[in-house]
Amino acid sequence: MKIVMVGTGYVGLVSGLCFAEFGFETLCVDKNQARLNGISKGVCPFFEPGLDDLLVKHLNLTKRFSLSNNLQESLKEANVVFITVGTPTKRLENEADLKAVHEVAKEIAENIINYCVVVIKSTVPVGTTRKIKEIISQKVSEDKFDIVSNPEFLSEGSAIKDFMRPDRVVIGTENKKSESIMQEIYNPLYLQETSIVLTTIESAEVIKYASNSFLATKISFINEVADLCETIGGNVLDVAKAMGLDKRIGEKFLHAGPGFGGSCFPKDVKAFSATAKKHDVELSIINAVNASNEARPIKIASRIKNRFNNKLEGIVIGILGLSFKPNTDDIRNSTSIIIANELYKSGAIIKCFDPYAMNNAKKVLPDLNYCNSVDEVCKGSSALIIATEWNEFKVFDLNKIKKLMKDPVIFDLRNIYNNEAVKDFGIEYHGVGQ
Ligand SMILES: NC(=O)c1ccc[n+]([C@@H]2O[C@H](COP(=O)([O-])OP(=O)(O)OC[C@H]3O[C@@H](n4cnc5c(N)ncnc54)[C@H](O)[C@@H]3O)[C@@H](O)[C@H]2O)c1
Repeated sequence: MKIVMVGTGYVGLVSGLCFAEFGFETLCVDKNQARLNGISKGVCPFFEPGLDDLLVKHLNLTKRFSLSNNLQESLKEANVVFITVGTPTKRLENEADLKAVHEVAKEIAENIINYCVVVIKSTVPVGTTRKIKEIISQKVSEDKFDIVSNPEFLSEGSAIKDFMRPDRVVIGTENKKSESIMQEIYNPLYLQETSIVLTTIESAEVIKYASNSFLATKISFINEVADLCETIGGNVLDVAKAMGLDKRIGEKFLHAGPGFGGSCFPKDVKAFSATAKKHDVELSIINAVNASNEARPIKIASRIKNRFNNKLEGIVIGILGLSFKPNTDDIRNSTSIIIANELYKSGAIIKCFDPYAMNNAKKVLPDLNYCNSVDEVCKGSSALIIATEWNEFKVFDLNKIKKLMKDPVIFDLRNIYNNEAVKDFGIEYHGVGQ
């Protein structure tokens, strides 16, 4: 069985290396030659825990993993080809931009020689997989390929574990032949009793968007409860804990904070809603989640500005964490970046630090002051914002922080610290929903 992945991003590279770990010969294709050059030297194009080791292992030792910029050549011996290219939000619209997916589909159509299964792993709106079938059918007879929807659920920061030990695998097919090939590929997961959901192509497409939108809804819900707690004197930490103990609700994704970011939730919520609208269905809950989340980091930045009577000119503010969540260097739709930009635009001098995401942040916010440590950020700052919950931000020496800061004020947007304990150090503390 030979597997080809088109795209060497978070999904393509992680899945490709994990399939190599399962024992399959895997070839990753990308049109970004610089990216391929780096990977072929054993350097991952992004930070993902454990991925470097897996890359070196399968590139150099097992040699089950290889790379190419030539899809035509790569398809010659492929049994299964996965499309894992990006599907960002279209500029000025909420729809998913399917340009890259369609481009790859056309290239596949031009070059299929022997039968193969074409799997859409990119997150795509309902109807896209069938559209890809149509594109390929224009050039290739239908006995030469099958089309499958196999959405990916991995999370950045824990991507390898998520791929190797997923809660479920979703496979949408239209016939038994492709279904059994997909079952063969995922056999190592069958053996560890992973739930494999075999379904139709349309259901598979909806499952992905509905899952991400539901998780996003939980986050926005608790964020709004946090706002209410702040006003009426409740504590969202207690509220979320008690809610989460109800097994019907569950404790995950009930952490109040600055809103959800990243490359998936914001765009998937928008695309889910846009797809429904095209079919004259209004997803009013999802629309509300999108609006609530878009307003959230701006609202948080306003609260910080209010603390300084909206006079930020010349005030030094420290920001810890720039990635959209810990254990990744991905800053796409990062709320830290949005908040940093808002405060910077209002005249604040921003000092910031992130263990891995600073190079990416420098590309979008070049005028911030990038520091080498938490101490350097704290020195002379009039406020410290904990924006991303990296482990290294969880065990501060609060005495030292107080001494380093000009004015000891902490905005803990991830509710890492205990309100009372921080105040005992003589530090002004602002959590979320407390
Ligand atoms: N990042 C995640 O955590 C995650 C999780 C689940 C699903 N997804 C979905 O998976 C898809 C890919 O996401 P990603 O984060 O891996 O994207 P990415 O932007 O990190 O990577 C996409 C890759 O595809 C390559 N590419 C683009 N057009 C190409 C072409 N015509 N031929 C060959 N290569 C091409 C790019 O050069 C890039 O390397 C998206 O639809 C996303 O929504 C992402």
